[in-house]
Amino acid sequence: MKLTLKIWRQKNAQAKGQMVTYPIDGIDGDMSFLEMMDVLNNGLINKGDDPVVFDHDCREGICGSCSMFINGEAHGPDRLVTTCQLHMRKFKDGDTITIEPFRAAGFPVIKDLMVDRSSFDRIQHAGGFISVNTSGNTQDANAIPIEKANADAAFDAATCIGCGACVASCKNSSAMLFVSAKVSQFALLPQGEIEATDRVLNMVKQMDEEGFGNCTNTGACEVECPKGISLENIARMNREYMAATMKG
Ligand code: SF4
Ligand code: FES
Repeated sequence: MKLTLKIWRQKNAQAKGQMVTYPIDGIDGDMSFLEMMDVLNNGLINKGDDPVVFDHDCREGICGSCSMFINGEAHGPDRLVTTCQLHMRKFKDGDTITIEPFRAAGFPVIKDLMVDRSSFDRIQHAGGFISVNTSGNTQDANAIPIEKANADAAFDAATCIGCGACVASCKNSSAMLFVSAKVSQFALLPQGEIEATDRVLNMVKQMDEEGFGNCTNTGACEVECPKGISLENIARMNREYMAATMKG
């Protein structure tokens, strides 16, 4: 395939960025999107040009680092996959592909397609944990009965990989889907009950401080989430938040 790539280039956080056009040839439909970017970068390096900076790590849909906005969609045109799992067969010969970073006040651009998502880490640090008794009397987790429906819903919430596609897809740059997944994975389990009140209050407070917008129930986050995290988690977090506010 021959393609035309239009890629956001930005030297650093302070620099003014711009779209730059790159023709590329010899792309196979079986390549992943990141392998296609590797081909582009090899060509740029061979010419002595600055390669396009983008985040990646696992390349198998687990780490959540490969955040790219491709043709106006977070992680591109496929559903329930990350950019590293997107294959070039989703495009056709002669296509023009627009590639931008995830854009949000809470995700400042570091360089080109790489953004700083440490705001998510700070939200996690604010409450995304449980305290476990490690004194030697630790209860075997398998001995704690949990309803199957709750265990399944907690597991589904825990599949959030923190990629930030929900934020990038939201017209308000809301992080509610991410935060609600992190709250829900504990709210549904007895292990999460002890810190439940502080957790939701502190995580929502941190989310607001990081500059993420409010949820207006548009639902773009759920559509673009590579892990299929459900909007039901946002409803659950709102209930948790209301209950915590009343207790406080
Ligand atoms: S909720 Fe989905 S889109 Fe948002 S960070 Fe988690 S996995 Fe990514
Ligand atoms: S590189 Fe890890 S999810 Fe894509």
